[in-house]
Amino acid sequence: MIRSLKYYSVLALSVCLSLPAWAQQENPVKKVGNISDVQISDQKVLLSTDNGINAEITAYSPSVIRVRMSEQPLAEDFSYAVVAAPQQIKVNITQNDQQLSIQTDSLQARVQKNPFSIAFYTPDGRLINQDEQGLTTSWIGEEVTTYKKMQEGERFIGLGEKTGGLDRRGNAYTNWNTDAFGYSTGQDPLYTTIPFFIGIHSGLNYGIFLDNTYRSNFNFGASNNRFSSFGAEGGEMDYYFIYHTKLADIITSYTALTGRMPMPPLWSLGYQQNRYSYYPETEVMRIAQTLREKKIPADGITLDIHYMDAYKLFTWNTERFPDPLQMNKKLEDMGFKTTIIVDPGIKVEEGYAAYESGLKEDIFLKYPDGQNYAGQVWPGWTHFPDFTSEKGRAWWREQVKLFADQGIDGIWNDMNEIATWGQTMPGNVLFDYDGHLTTHKEGRNVYGLQMTRASYNGAREAMNKRPFLLTRAGYAGMQRYTAKWTGDNRSEDSHMLLGIRLLNSLGVSGVSFTGMDIGGFTGNPSVGLYARWIQLGAFTPYFRNHTGVNTKSSEPWAYGEEVTEIARNFINLRYRLLPYLYSSFYESTQTGQPVMRTLAIDYTHEPLVYSSDYQNQYFFGEAFMVAPFESTTSFGKIYFPKGKWYELFTGTVEQGGQEKILQLSYNRLPVYVKESSIIPMQSLIQSTAEMPTDTLIIHVYQGSVANQFVYYEDDGESFDHEKGEFYKRVISYDPRKKAISFGEAEGSFKSKFNHIKLVLHGFGDGGRWRLNGKSASPKSSFVSFIDPISRFDPQGVSNPIEGYNVKSIVIRNENGRFSLTY
Ligand code: GLC
Repeated sequence: MIRSLKYYSVLALSVCLSLPAWAQQENPVKKVGNISDVQISDQKVLLSTDNGINAEITAYSPSVIRVRMSEQPLAEDFSYAVVAAPQQIKVNITQNDQQLSIQTDSLQARVQKNPFSIAFYTPDGRLINQDEQGLTTSWIGEEVTTYKKMQEGERFIGLGEKTGGLDRRGNAYTNWNTDAFGYSTGQDPLYTTIPFFIGIHSGLNYGIFLDNTYRSNFNFGASNNRFSSFGAEGGEMDYYFIYHTKLADIITSYTALTGRMPMPPLWSLGYQQNRYSYYPETEVMRIAQTLREKKIPADGITLDIHYMDAYKLFTWNTERFPDPLQMNKKLEDMGFKTTIIVDPGIKVEEGYAAYESGLKEDIFLKYPDGQNYAGQVWPGWTHFPDFTSEKGRAWWREQVKLFADQGIDGIWNDMNEIATWGQTMPGNVLFDYDGHLTTHKEGRNVYGLQMTRASYNGAREAMNKRPFLLTRAGYAGMQRYTAKWTGDNRSEDSHMLLGIRLLNSLGVSGVSFTGMDIGGFTGNPSVGLYARWIQLGAFTPYFRNHTGVNTKSSEPWAYGEEVTEIARNFINLRYRLLPYLYSSFYESTQTGQPVMRTLAIDYTHEPLVYSSDYQNQYFFGEAFMVAPFESTTSFGKIYFPKGKWYELFTGTVEQGGQEKILQLSYNRLPVYVKESSIIPMQSLIQSTAEMPTDTLIIHVYQGSVANQFVYYEDDGESFDHEKGEFYKRVISYDPRKKAISFGEAEGSFKSKFNHIKLVLHGFGDGGRWRLNGKSASPKSSFVSFIDPISRFDPQGVSNPIEGYNVKSIVIRNENGRFSLTY
């Protein structure tokens, strides 16, 4: 015993003498330390550590646990992103000397006390995620970071508008809203901050949302093989850990926390024609008329900065636009809605009304000595409203009302990172942060979000109908107010494909209504690239063609007859798909599922989904799988996940679980329909102001799995749907029972469709089957399999679907054509 004591003290001394210099000095990295105090109350645990760290762990819902840590006493709970309060749930919290357990029905957090570290487990004890034991959470100055052990084969997706691949493993990212004109395909950061990602490993998936608006950093094993980490350069460590067995449910929980998009106006789903800039009025009218003359359906025209007088917000250049209201009325009569651009900067110019009133109301961002901050943008020196103050937002809401009086339907919020000619705004500019006065360092990343909040609320009040909002910058939760486009991309193939990944990533991160500049903003696309891009655009949620100030015209007719024809075909298809698309948007308002979805949502654990060959494939709604390829290749590789797939235009069937080389054509984007899909369509219209015929065409694709589609309709413009004026109906297809059925109609809205045409794909000589319980067989007059496009009236069983007259049923066999033009 004595010998061993001596032995250990010698050992201790020698260890001490041999300690490296860094270990003998005060450690510049402050560790979280050991837990020294625990207070359990209800669904929450308050902790403190021997290193002076205060923490709080809250069971927020059965699937969400929130973790907060700070060197200070925990701040008043305040968030621009999170709109949900903790749910009252059953939680079991227990502890012993070594550990604490916080257990809900769906998730368990195990907290080690020495040192303080957290691990999350499934209810059946499988490890989902754990702190990296040696590193856990630490501070370097004000910067706080949490380190998670990298799990075997772990992948990471999401984080909003981030360049790079679908799988973010091996990369690091920063969030700092940035004006990224003509960004490169690897550039980071871009315009928007969404500090939410999903980790995937061992058949499990989880989400982490870091709710911190300072510059934040995420490392998914970049230059290290030990950890993934997330942190911010100030503020608290404040994250929500979300676990579900299905990845889609993680998005649902994340959007339950940060909110979902409201139902957008129907017209905003139509084609939008933009350029920087259409002026004067005659040019705007020429574009509108040409779209109509050439029978290219469209709903939106957008006015870029040249509509203003010397770029002064809330003014018009009256030489170019003598009577905006009259012009907008004329456009409206032609079925167009006008969206106009607003930038946050108010020109410093005596006598200019917005400047004078902004000064008077004292709503501009300031330096600590009270002087208004000025930065340079389009109009020269400008002040910037403080959208993080209610006073600033109220002022802006008033200004925006002007647009309603001028017949404007959409507000495009640009340059709201804040952009000041590529310069860095000083860190000491103050932001009200709704009564939690702070600096640019914490305020910047929410500036765009708060601008869209003010624009949305002002427009909503003044227009008294659903406004369309678009933004470049934002923060988590932006989907509550606005659509988002991906800024100043380039007219290059790699940008078209990057754009697809950006939109898919935004979708995973809660933002459903997204788009990119079709054709590219900087430079001029080749004819082939333009043709390919506009086809893809028809399969993106916000479909707008936009280009920069010194580029070639980019309207659908600018690339020759053949391309005009291709553009028209795909825009036509988009318009015929509106019932499907509107219902997909509705789904998103209810569940947060994006309209444009990476395959990783439904095929999370199929490794090929993440390969560089297939990572751009995506779903548009739940039925269409789109495979984007560069315009320069004649062959492309596609991956069919398990199941059965129908080529959209030929009906050719492909079996899932295989990779295939496709011959690509210039005029036909590879689009496949998933088996068992239900796709409602309508007749062709030139804009949503026009009524389609009163026949709803429902395509059903034979498959081996049961499926349901929630069909949704409302007036497309008012808020009456919030009071129950909608028409909703579940359409089901059950291959086992050989049944297609329509559930009861819900809501008080009268559908614009009275008739139904069913188009059945791949049903072959399907034997007996049922339509709303009524039996039919190929031998009866109800169903015929004469040829792929036979049509007939189902006499005798004319009204199997309550509320509709079933006009005809068309059976297409497996090679039935889905024509673009009928
Ligand atoms: C910014 C926008 C772009 C717009 C231009 C002029 O670059 O990103 O879309 O056309 O400003 O307003």
